Amino acid sequence: MNISQAISERRSIKSFTDRLISPKEIERLIAAAVLAPNHRMTEPWRFYVLGPEARAGFGRVLGHRKAKRVDEPDAKMAVVEKVEASHRDLPAMLAVATTLDENPEIREEDYAATYMAIQNLCLSALEFGFGTHVKSGGVMDDPRAREAVGVRQGERIIATIAVGEPAAVPDGKPRSSADQFTTWVP
Ligand SMILES: Cc1cc2nc3c(=O)[nH]c(=O)nc-3n(C[C@H](O)[C@H](O)[C@H](O)COP(=O)(O)O)c2cc1C
Repeated sequence: MNISQAISERRSIKSFTDRLISPKEIERLIAAAVLAPNHRMTEPWRFYVLGPEARAGFGRVLGHRKAKRVDEPDAKMAVVEKVEASHRDLPAMLAVATTLDENPEIREEDYAATYMAIQNLCLSALEFGFGTHVKSGGVMDDPRAREAVGVRQGERIIATIAVGEPAAVPDGKPRSSADQFTTWVP
């Protein structure tokens, strides 16, 4: 698969087959991630490869956050259990953290570099026949989620990535034409 193909075929994958992802396969994806460009070579990316219990723990926290919108106690519990189980059942999941430099300029660059590493990982996954789903949101900074991941002091989780063999690949979401976002400056 060439790079253009990988870029155009990448999708956020929501359902995976039961095929397990081996530690070696995860290592290959992380090896691609750490080749991302990185000003000052701070290497700010940190990858937490979550096992089933850690995934379930993270899912439980996310489930509790989603359940806040539900009033009825049984329905609340059902939301928590569903999100927890869906995370436990993933073939593989990583939490990606970035280091938090004291200097805001470096911190911003490090955040950007870590997202470039995430994109490397996602595109590399396609080459091996895997799909990915990157997620972010308020749960990243939730102390309970941080605890479930075991993220270290001085790091911030900025994404989770589900990885697996796609059970279904959704159609691409329509994108506007690039020229709408382009200004040619003479
Ligand atoms: C920074 C970031 C955060 C995201 N967070 C979520 C999320 O919380 N939940 C979710 O279902 N998808 C999330 N996504 C995936 C986007 O919804 C998805 O990329 C978008 O719908 C376009 O679909 P595609 O990736 O298949 O092209 C996130 C993507 C990015 C880049």
